[in-house]
Amino acid sequence: MKQSVKMIVGNWKMNGVSASLEQAQAIRDAVAGSGGARVVLCPPATLVARMADLLDGGGVAVGGQDCHAKPSGAFTGSISAEMLADAGATVVILGHSERRTAFGETDAEVAAKVEAAIAAGLEPIICVGETLEQRQAGDAIAVVSDQVAGSLPDGLSERVFAVAYEPVWAIGTGLTPTLEQIAEVHAAVRVAIVARLGEGARTAPILYGGSVKPENARDILATAEVGGALVGGASLKAADFMPIIQAAA
Ligand code: PGA
Repeated sequence: MKQSVKMIVGNWKMNGVSASLEQAQAIRDAVAGSGGARVVLCPPATLVARMADLLDGGGVAVGGQDCHAKPSGAFTGSISAEMLADAGATVVILGHSERRTAFGETDAEVAAKVEAAIAAGLEPIICVGETLEQRQAGDAIAVVSDQVAGSLPDGLSERVFAVAYEPVWAIGTGLTPTLEQIAEVHAAVRVAIVARLGEGARTAPILYGGSVKPENARDILATAEVGGALVGGASLKAADFMPIIQAAA
C-alpha cells in the first residue's frame, strides 16, 4: 500500500556533541519551509532532551536509538523508554542490527523492548535485515520474515509503529540492494507483519535503511511498499539530510 506521507528518520548512532545541535537546528529550519515528509532525528541519548527542547513545536520529532525493557531498576548504563519519553522523545529505534550483532539482542528481547516503548507512549521503529551470508545463501526473505514474527509483540496492531528493513551488508558500506530486491523484501515484510498481527497492521510504514543518500533516495522512496527511510551517515549533516527529506515530499 502506498503511504502518502513518507517517514524520514535520521539515526545519528554514537555521533554528536553539543555543537551538533546546530545541524538539528538547520534541519528544523529547512523542514519548516518544505513540508511533505514526517521527519525524526534520533541523536545519542545525551542529546535527546536538549534536541527535543530545541525542536519543540517545529516539524521535526526526536527519538531514541534503543531502550531497556524495564521501566527502572538496577541496570547500570541503561536507559528506559519512560526516560526517553520524559526527555522529550516520541519515537525509539529498536533491534537495530548493530544492537543485535554487538549486544546480542534476540528477537524476544526486541519484542520486550517494543512492549516497553508502547507502555511509555513511544512509537517504535523495529529493525530487521539479513547479513550478506544469509542473502548469498538465498535466505534473506526467510530471515527477515522470522525477525518480524519474533520481534513484533501481541497487540501491536492497535498501536502506531514502523518496521525498518535494513540489510546488514548495506549499512554504512555504500552498497544498496537493487530496487527490485528492496521491493521483494518489503512485500515479504508486509506479508509477515499481517501474518503476525492481522489486517489492522497493513498500513504500518515499512522504512528502508542502508546507505540511503541524496543520490539514491528518490528512487528508493518511490519503490513499492517503501514508506520512508532510516538514514545513518547521511543524517549527520543538514546538507546531506535535507535532499533526502525533499526526495520524500
Ligand atoms: P547508513 O546507516 O545510512 O549509514 O548506512 C543506516 C542505519 O544503520 O540505520
